[in-house]
Amino acid sequence: MDKNRVIIFDTTLRDGEQSPGASMNLEEKVRIALALEEMGVDVIEAGFPIASNGDFEAVEAVARAVKTSVICGLARATKGDIERCAEAVKPAGRGRIHTFLSTSPLHMKYKLQMEPEKVLEKISESVAYARNLTDDVEWSAEDGSRTEHDFLCTCVEAAIKAGARTINIPDTVGYAIPDEYAALIAMLFNRVPNIDKAIISVHCHNDLGLAVANSLAAVGKGARQIECTINGLGERAGNAAMEEIVMALRTRPDLLPYKSGVKTENITRASRLVSTITGFVVQPNKAIVGKNAFAHESGIHQDGVLKHAQTYEIMTPESVGLNRSSLVMGKHSGRAAFKAKLKDLGYELGDNAVEDAFTRFKDLADRKKDVFDEDIVALVDDAVVRG
Ligand code: KIV
Ligand code: ZN
Repeated sequence: MDKNRVIIFDTTLRDGEQSPGASMNLEEKVRIALALEEMGVDVIEAGFPIASNGDFEAVEAVARAVKTSVICGLARATKGDIERCAEAVKPAGRGRIHTFLSTSPLHMKYKLQMEPEKVLEKISESVAYARNLTDDVEWSAEDGSRTEHDFLCTCVEAAIKAGARTINIPDTVGYAIPDEYAALIAMLFNRVPNIDKAIISVHCHNDLGLAVANSLAAVGKGARQIECTINGLGERAGNAAMEEIVMALRTRPDLLPYKSGVKTENITRASRLVSTITGFVVQPNKAIVGKNAFAHESGIHQDGVLKHAQTYEIMTPESVGLNRSSLVMGKHSGRAAFKAKLKDLGYELGDNAVEDAFTRFKDLADRKKDVFDEDIVALVDDAVVRG
């Protein structure tokens, strides 16, 4: 594989579903998985098969339906979890078992109540067990970003030795900042002797709003798999948003010379599908997929965009699957935008009529925050009726 190719691992159906209130049924999960496959996502984490029969059946159904992407299931470091996961992903053309164990002092002491030596032993055992059931095993150091460095190196080395092909270093609680997280990944490349035998993956949560920045910083230090979700869905403040990651790679090849295989033109469709199915409304000013992401309200911006789109747009709406940027009419809109809007709406008015309509539009905009297309149609039609 091209050394600058970044594997996109989507976990909308697993970590995304862990957003309180975002559960999806089997048929909905299959629809989302097919949209992800069509988009060119490399790995789809379809669920946590041991969690419930419903989860198991959904992972199995996704594994049957999807033909090209790798289908992954999550498993704790126990034989029961790993076997159930192997069974669920079995119908997939390419199945992956993703097993994990916490490695930070806090998690080992309070959550696992296990000594580090025992944790290390369980890592080797669970990865080797999973490797007996499939070739494609990923191991995650849960709370990896808060793990003591010497111990993290030892754990990663052991997981690779036991057969893990992908090593994931999650920022489970979204605590890291970009320089620190990048340094952690660089440290692993410098210190773990067999690191080149595995793909290093990142899985960043967004508690400080840094999930995408952390993921991209880690890619700069050699990570080649990014775990992410559509619309940034996920536990608490969510995961790194896939649409932001792939559009950053597409928009800034000068500073981010890495490629994903995602067809960015499918982004808007996938975002709307996930939002409709989960009932999670995308905030209007959300990067890439928010309703205002390509909307221009101020007169100066509207005038600029009408003269040359790049004045205020760093990517085209078409590149994310939108037809065109929208001019949102409001009190800051100028004559040029108003004329363009009239043209869009199918009106061809003489100069006096445009002037008259523009004056009445400005009066309306003073009273009403957003002036919708229907308002403009109403005010122009009203003028025509009044003669
Ligand atoms: O955030 C996390 O650490 C996880 C792991 C299970 C990969 O979701
Ligand atoms: Zn997570």
